[in-house]
Amino acid sequence: MVTKAESESVGVRSVDPGTIAKPGSSQPLTPFTTRTGMTKKPVSPPPTSSPYIEVLESRIHNRGVFARTIIPAGKRIIEYVGERVTKIEGQRRAEAAIERAEEDSGKGFVYVFELNKRYDIDGDVDWNTARWINHSCEPNCEALTLNGRIWIVALTDIDPGEELSYNYGYDIAVCEDHPCRCGADGCVGFIVAAEFHDAVLEMQANRLLPAEDFLPAED
Ligand SMILES: C[S@@+](CC[C@H](N)C(=O)[O-])C[C@H]1O[C@@H](n2cnc3c(N)ncnc32)[C@H](O)[C@@H]1O
Ligand SMILES: [Zn+2]
Repeated sequence: MVTKAESESVGVRSVDPGTIAKPGSSQPLTPFTTRTGMTKKPVSPPPTSSPYIEVLESRIHNRGVFARTIIPAGKRIIEYVGERVTKIEGQRRAEAAIERAEEDSGKGFVYVFELNKRYDIDGDVDWNTARWINHSCEPNCEALTLNGRIWIVALTDIDPGEELSYNYGYDIAVCEDHPCRCGADGCVGFIVAAEFHDAVLEMQANRLLPAEDFLPAED
């Protein structure tokens, strides 16, 4: 289950390309050998940053990303960077993360985003500040692929101090492993793509899935 950002044909015209974060590298970092035969470790780029955001403790989960200033709807806030991997490797990493989640419920997170037909981006790298953004059932951001890069873009005007969120887009088949604590009025209790919200609510009404009230308290 590789996360798909909305494609560039969706919502591109509403994007304000104004001030953008300095992008980090999206190239694979692999060890290389110098002419003297010494193997050099790759140096990680510095974490990406944006004047619009800061990473702080979150009420949703551990750490999150918060607005430092007013962010207008349509603004590209920060690039979702990482290691560019082939589709096969991206799929392998996504499946490994899902397996980890199955073994240790809720502990596996898929950072792999579909970039294009040939490559994925694995955002599980230290320099990807966007990886701290939490999921919400009523998000104020979305992930968009624009000209071959993945951006976190504001869906609404965002006030200073507001936590940034996007919908992680998980499949309904795995949502039970990922209880949602976004706190939105429309929270469906699970981290799941918006297209499945109605199905989840129906399953909850028929007691086929636990409703939010029945979810275990956070440990
Ligand atoms: C990419 S990390 C986001 C950053 C995370 N808060 C942290 O500090 O590591 C994704 C993980 O954060 C947690 N998370 C994100 N959104 C959540 C939500 N709405 N409800 C519960 N947990 C959430 C889940 O454990 C998920 O696997
Ligand atoms: Zn929620």
